[in-house]
Amino acid sequence: MPTDDIVVLKDVRKRFGDHEVLRGIEMVCRRNETTCVVGGSGAGKTTLLRLIVALERPTSGQILIDGEDTVPMGEREINRVRQKFGMVYQYAALLDSINVLDNVAFPLVEHTRLRAHERREKVLEKLGALGLDDSVLRKFPSELSGGMRKRVGLARALMLDPPIIVYDEPTSGLDPLTTGAVDDLIEETRQRFGVTSIVITHDIASCFRIAHQAILLDRGVIATHGTPADLAHGDSEVAREFIRRSGVDVEAILRARGHA
Ligand SMILES: Nc1ncnc2c1ncn2[C@@H]1O[C@H](COP(=O)(O)OP(=O)(O)OP(=O)(O)O)[C@@H](O)[C@H]1O
Ligand SMILES: [Mg+2]
Repeated sequence: MPTDDIVVLKDVRKRFGDHEVLRGIEMVCRRNETTCVVGGSGAGKTTLLRLIVALERPTSGQILIDGEDTVPMGEREINRVRQKFGMVYQYAALLDSINVLDNVAFPLVEHTRLRAHERREKVLEKLGALGLDDSVLRKFPSELSGGMRKRVGLARALMLDPPIIVYDEPTSGLDPLTTGAVDDLIEETRQRFGVTSIVITHDIASCFRIAHQAILLDRGVIATHGTPADLAHGDSEVAREFIRRSGVDVEAILRARGHA
């Protein structure tokens, strides 16, 4: 019986040397929702993400993915859980020396026994769902625009049909127009593929546009969490200050979403 709380962290701590980077994280991501983790540089956002996808082990605590605690797992079991995640990295992280087809097909080569023409078909299906056609297959990443690279990186993350997609700073380095397009892409992907999204971002505007739940991470602790409206209107002074300093007109975004 799948749990609605697809990702649950209980008292998670992570220490590098004598620096405790995450200090008792409690969080819950609900299935088919978008959770955004916001916070300043060095707050521990990327570390948190790497713990969730089990690329890194916590110093202590529990990390439940679909109800299974990954913390005590051995390598074999953890590899199985890792396949529940599609990762979209900052700057898309495509391999520059191979074309789009080979980039997107990469997870299929690693994890399936599909033949080349079957892989090509699956790649085209995903690219098509994201608004790209076969004219991009032979292109190299350097020949793509920033927005197209994001789509290609997302297609690759979706290749094995993971239930959870995690994005690390998907809009950093993009202009406001492309940022809006990537926000739309994250939301469309969630709806179309029925995935749960976890988005790490500096970008308050993105967070307010797409999050069901926003989590503010402040120097390794969760300062506050709730809907974006909760962050803007709740009693967390840290949240209000973070929003104020971003200079983003969050009230306008909330109005546009229809729940000011
Ligand atoms: N492998 C590591 N070894 C030692 N320290 C690390 C390691 N990874 C992260 N840190 C430290 O942990 C802290 C949090 O880093 P992290 O990358 O998680 O922050 P962040 O919130 O993602 O920052 P940014 O917004 O700049 O990406 C930083 O002080 C960083 O130096
Ligand atoms: Mg980071």
